[in-house]
Parts: sequence; C-alpha cells; structure tokens
Amino acid sequence: MDIVQFIAAKRDGQEHHRGELREFVLAAVGGAADYQISAWLMAAYLRGLSEEETVELTGALRDSGRTFPLGHFGPRSVDKHSTGGVGDKTSLVIVPLCASLGAVVPKMSGRGLGFTGGTLDKLEAIPGFRSDLSVEEFERIVSRVGAAIAAQSADLVPADGRLYALRDVTATVDSVPLIAASVMSKKLALGCPSVVLDVKVGSGAFMPDRERGQALAAAMVAIGTAEGRRMAALLGDMSRPLGRAVGNSLEVLEAMETLRGGGPDDLRGHCSLIAGEMLSAAGVARSPEDGVARAEEALRSGRAADKMLELVEAQGGDAESLAAGRLPVASLTAAVHADSSGFLARVDARAVGQAAMALGAGRQRRDDGIDLGAGVVLRHTVGDEVQAGEPLATLHASTEAHLHAGLARLLSAFSVSEAAPAAAPLVHEVIRA
Ligand code: URA
Repeated sequence: MDIVQFIAAKRDGQEHHRGELREFVLAAVGGAADYQISAWLMAAYLRGLSEEETVELTGALRDSGRTFPLGHFGPRSVDKHSTGGVGDKTSLVIVPLCASLGAVVPKMSGRGLGFTGGTLDKLEAIPGFRSDLSVEEFERIVSRVGAAIAAQSADLVPADGRLYALRDVTATVDSVPLIAASVMSKKLALGCPSVVLDVKVGSGAFMPDRERGQALAAAMVAIGTAEGRRMAALLGDMSRPLGRAVGNSLEVLEAMETLRGGGPDDLRGHCSLIAGEMLSAAGVARSPEDGVARAEEALRSGRAADKMLELVEAQGGDAESLAAGRLPVASLTAAVHADSSGFLARVDARAVGQAAMALGAGRQRRDDGIDLGAGVVLRHTVGDEVQAGEPLATLHASTEAHLHAGLARLLSAFSVSEAAPAAAPLVHEVIRA
C-alpha cells in the first residue's frame, strides 16, 4: 500500500476506501515504521473514523492473530468488559456468579495502570493463583468450571498491542473509535455470541465525560451488532469508587463478601444488574429483570461463592485462604477523619484511586511492581450522615513513606455538606442493540 497517501487521506478528513484499513493493519504487524503508524493514529484521532471504518478496523485487528470461532465456547457463552475504574472488582463477582447459573464465561482480563485497578492483579493477591494459562488450559477450565479468568494470550489481536503501545506514547489513547475498535477486536476474537459492556463515566473513569462515554458505548454496541453479536452496554457511575475497598487484596476480600450475599449495596446492586444483562443475553434468563432476580438468589444462597472457590482452585489458587478471608493486607494503617458534621457529599473516585496508587497498590508504568496488600477502605459512602472527627477511611501501606503519600492524596477526596446530596444512580442508562 502507499502508506503516505493513506496517512494524507485521513489527515485531510477523507474516508478510507474499503480494504485500505485492513492493508494498513497488515502493514502495522508486518513492520511498518512507528512514525508512519503514529502519524495515521494522530490523523484518525483528530479527524475521527466513520462507523464503517471503525467496523473495518475492528475486524482487521481481530484477524491479526488467533481467533476462536463464534460459539466455540457454546451458545451460552457470554463475555463482559468494563472500561475500568476505582474499586471496580465487578469481574471477580460477575464471572463466577453467571457461571454458577449456567452461563459460560471465558474471560480474558488485564492489569491495572495509573489510578485504575486491573482484575489480574487483584486475583494474584490470592496465593498461588495463575492467570498465565495456555490456551489449552484456559479452554479446559472453562469447559469444566464454566468460567476462567486469564491474561490475554500474546497471539490474540497482536496488531492491537502494536497500535496501543504507540497510542500510549503519542497522546492518542482517548479516541472513541480507536478505543472501540481496540476493545471490540478482543471481544470478537474470543467468539462469544453475547457481550455486555460496562462503560464507566465520572471522575474515576478513563473517559469521565458522560457524552463521550455514551458515544463509546454506542460505537461498541454498533460494532458488535454489525458482527452478529447480542450486545448491551451499561453506562455505570464512576464519580465515586464502587464499593468500599480499593486495592488488590482488599478488593478480593470485598468481592468474596459480595459473592456470599453481603458486601456493599452499590457493588452488589451493580453486579446484579450486569449479571442480569449477561444471563438474559446468554439465554439463561428470560429477561434482564429475571436475570437480576436469579443473580440475587445465587448470591444469597452461597452458590456464586462456591463457584468462585472452584474457579480459584482450578487456577492453582489457595481457595481455603480465600474462603477464610486470609489474604495479605499491609500492616501500617492510618485514617482520614471528617473535619465537620453533616452529609458526605463527595468521595472523589479519581482522588481515592490516586491515593491507593501512592500507597503502593497501583503502577505508574507497565513494568512497575505493586504492593498487593496496600489500599484504602472507605468507612462511609456518599449520602451518609457523619460527625466531625469520625473516621471516613482507613489506609493500608507497607512503609511510612507510602502511608504519608497516600494520606496526602486522600485528604482531598471528601466533601461534607449541611444538606443531604441527591442520590446518584448506579447506572445512568442501558444501551441495547
Ligand atoms: N482498553 C483497551 O483495550 N483499549 C483501549 O484502547 C483502551 C482501553
């Protein structure tokens, strides 16, 4: 292909001809220069891509590596994706929850970066847990347990790896069509007939702005629908953290409480809503509402928690320690206190995420190490009445320096007001194909 012409066309705001994006993706994995790929990424970032172009880019990315045929994991297989946030441990709850009710959930997840956490880091807080499964092991566990949670295999969508690495260093990550194509190429490669997306909006989201979140959700639903998948997207609130725990071990412990029918109301409610959509899309429930009712019952009965322990054991993890709540938690603690009495009006998700990172729970760069036992536990949530001097949060760290750094960040996360704040919804809207 004439790559210079191709870049110039997007620079000038033209729509690419059919087939050109596919050639470009082939060139990207076939050794095209970083500067040419980066130049096109910036042109696409500034000029945008049409729906047809986004669908074509997604398909080309998907086909750059190994794919599983549609329905390979069975007609009841369903995938989920969250755009990520602070305290977002929903996969830890939803994957075993849906599997306990007969859906099949082959889940490939990622690690945390910046102020948002990642499912694999959280699961690795369970001693012995292995996420680096071979494709054969992954398939075997999915067929035996009904679910597995593994790191994305290197041969799944390699072209996205190349493009994403360049986007990361050229300020071209937060483009709706580029994110949509990147996320959906991985969902399509996995071959589940149904996909439910949890697109977060608010300060702790990757895409804080609600309108852009809506556009991203709509773009991903359109791509999946064009490829014959049953799609639903929820626009989830991430102005405050989800649940009370932020940090790897702490989040796993909270997820386990939730799987036993306890845990914070917002987390349990959010997980039930997403599970309801997934169970309905997979044909396990008659409707999303029926799916929510079944999900709530599986949490109450202990069925979902049992499935989690089965999954952890199948992936080499110490299910006994998890069941007993014995995970490493950093031993140094400190608290943030309310400076006046009133109602908790704001618990800023981004500030809490940054505090957790300063405590050692997150990584700045992909190859940084993390402290699995560090993090924050919120003692109150938005809308609670609090008294001056009462603890609002407990911080956990392994060194005094980390504890002080986390404390400095966390102080700015809270606002107390005289009047009770309006209740914010867990989910702003649901977009179905
Ligand atoms: N996550 C992805 O997988 N891709 C993006 O582009 C952004 C977030």
